[in-house]
Amino acid sequence: MKSTGSDALVQQVVERFADTPDPRLREILGSLVRHLHGFIRETGLTEREWMQGIEFLTAVGQKCDDRRQEFILLSDVLGASMQVVAVQSARAPGCTESTVFGPFHVEGAPQVADGGDVARGAKGTPCTVRGTVRDSDGRALAGATLDVWQSDDDGLYDVQRPGLQGAQGRGVLKSQGDGSFRFESVVPVPYPIPTDGPVGDLLRASRRPCQRPAHLHFRIQAPGCETLVTHVFRSGDPHLDADPVFGVRPSLVADWPAAGPGRHEMHFDFVLQRID
Ligand code: BEZ
Ligand code: FE
Repeated sequence: MKSTGSDALVQQVVERFADTPDPRLREILGSLVRHLHGFIRETGLTEREWMQGIEFLTAVGQKCDDRRQEFILLSDVLGASMQVVAVQSARAPGCTESTVFGPFHVEGAPQVADGGDVARGAKGTPCTVRGTVRDSDGRALAGATLDVWQSDDDGLYDVQRPGLQGAQGRGVLKSQGDGSFRFESVVPVPYPIPTDGPVGDLLRASRRPCQRPAHLHFRIQAPGCETLVTHVFRSGDPHLDADPVFGVRPSLVADWPAAGPGRHEMHFDFVLQRID
């Protein structure tokens, strides 16, 4: 039987998607087919290896539930999440840089008043976090919604503690009339990304470290501005140069100095890109 040859097959598959009415979907599918076939041809992938890949992706899906998102984790360790962020973020100079969302955000976290407690019983060294939210024109943003989340002193998010009742280390607050915000929490510590699933097997097979540098997550939303998803990392953390999810940007590293006996503080000013 005459072989259709690999180039012809790629072309045939791309053409099979040619009637996709949505032009963007057509572009994405065509590019996906070309790159997927390019990967198979470049590596000379065997049928056994392809089946191992399918079994791996099946295990990733089976690990997911309403508390665990192994696909986000896979995207993160492959650097794909950070590449999507990089492709998207063409912001005005001076705007706060974005980084990965991660798998531990929970919609509907408790509302916290300005100055209120986000730790809500999470273990750790007490810490006051304060700062401002401005837009790229330099105007203070009053009433911006700040969604914050972090792990505790054991390096665990509340959703990683089965049986824990209620949220810990997370909350939603509003910036004040002058764009300022303040809340109480605990000093973040480095922690390992979850390694008890197929993504952990992948990291071990490739001898990759799993420890993330200490950080605090923010999602900040304000009308007329692009939503900012970012972290603030703790300066001096030994893992800053080897983040397993490639999320560190130097502009997002801040000091967490001592502020009295057994207390710390952190100050960070955020700038959101105006879009209207
Ligand atoms: C996180 O910071 O919560 C996170 C981000 C990516 C992968 C795992 C955890
Ligand atoms: Fe995190």
